[in-house]
Amino acid sequence: MTNIIKDLTKSNLKLLKQEILNNNLVIFPTETVYGIGANALKEDAVNKIFEVKERAKNNPLIVHLKDKKEIEKYAIIENIIEKKLIDAFMPGPFTIILKKKGIIPNSVTANMDSVGIRIPNNKIAHEFLEYIDLPIAAPSANISSRPSGTCVADIYQEFDGLVNFIIDGGHSKIGLESTVVKVINNIPTILRPGYITYENIKDLIGTCQIASGVLNKLDNNTKVESPGMLYKHYAPQTKCLLVYSEDFNKLKELILKNQTNKTIILGSDKLQDISCYKFIFYGNKLEEISHNIFSLLRLADTYQGDLIIIEGVKKEGLGLAIMNRLLRTSSFNYIEK
Ligand code: TXA
Ligand code: MG
Repeated sequence: MTNIIKDLTKSNLKLLKQEILNNNLVIFPTETVYGIGANALKEDAVNKIFEVKERAKNNPLIVHLKDKKEIEKYAIIENIIEKKLIDAFMPGPFTIILKKKGIIPNSVTANMDSVGIRIPNNKIAHEFLEYIDLPIAAPSANISSRPSGTCVADIYQEFDGLVNFIIDGGHSKIGLESTVVKVINNIPTILRPGYITYENIKDLIGTCQIASGVLNKLDNNTKVESPGMLYKHYAPQTKCLLVYSEDFNKLKELILKNQTNKTIILGSDKLQDISCYKFIFYGNKLEEISHNIFSLLRLADTYQGDLIIIEGVKKEGLGLAIMNRLLRTSSFNYIEK
């Protein structure tokens, strides 16, 4: 049975630490999404993450640390650009890929010579990491290919009986995973967009590039910087179609043309009057959409429609991260007019 921890009292922290020291998994909140964590220094513990999540072994995990001072125990900061990014965006919804030190087991990094480092900016995550005082490897708390876990009700459904402890931190504030960045030939390269945007990074460093997999489908033989981009991801069970147009009439036309008998529409206010089987409001601002999207995709499945038509957004600012996820949600079943 899975226990839901509501408060990080001293006795609960002790229980959680013991659980981690026993090489078991603990699900914990962060400001982006929930993570399913294990002691990053123990192969046995890390292997359990891959098993429970049904995750491909060649998809590396992010290592979560309590503060910046810890970074150089596990990784090497090789240049001033990496240093600047760390100073500006950590702690926060940002993961930096650095050259790894030998202390990090190869199973964490899927035999890559780099490691993703993240310092969450969330009170509960911080208290947990500080008390545990170990690096915690943690992917998002969802079975592979499913939408990431952003609230305990969703996570409990998937992981009840598979982990002993979930720490409840309410609905994740941001709702999309961290921005993953690697500095390649002195250019910060976004491997996965997130709340820290292309624009934020460009303003800081003067240059920034977006890896080709962010908005494009990659075939499984492509050599990519970030293996996570290869897999089916963020997907509900119901088939999805992503549609986008800056022009409302064209958008409406696209929706009407593609409607089925039981179409669920997931979108903003402006679509609420289109007649359909079920309309789900996802917010009007990018922050709201980001916050709500993963739990609403799960909700959409419960209505048992035959198609979810999702309204796309402009690929700018946080919109880039939203579209990166929704393109995968819909298996690149995407129309833009
Ligand atoms: O917000 C987040 O980042 C959440 C919370 C729990 O911190 N974590 C998360 O982890 O989203 P995960 O495992 O679901 O996604 C990690 C992504 C994957 O796409 C993976 O391929 C990439 O980061 N990644 C991890 N280590 C890497 C490395 N050394 N080089 C390139 N990509 C890496
Ligand atoms: Mg994930």
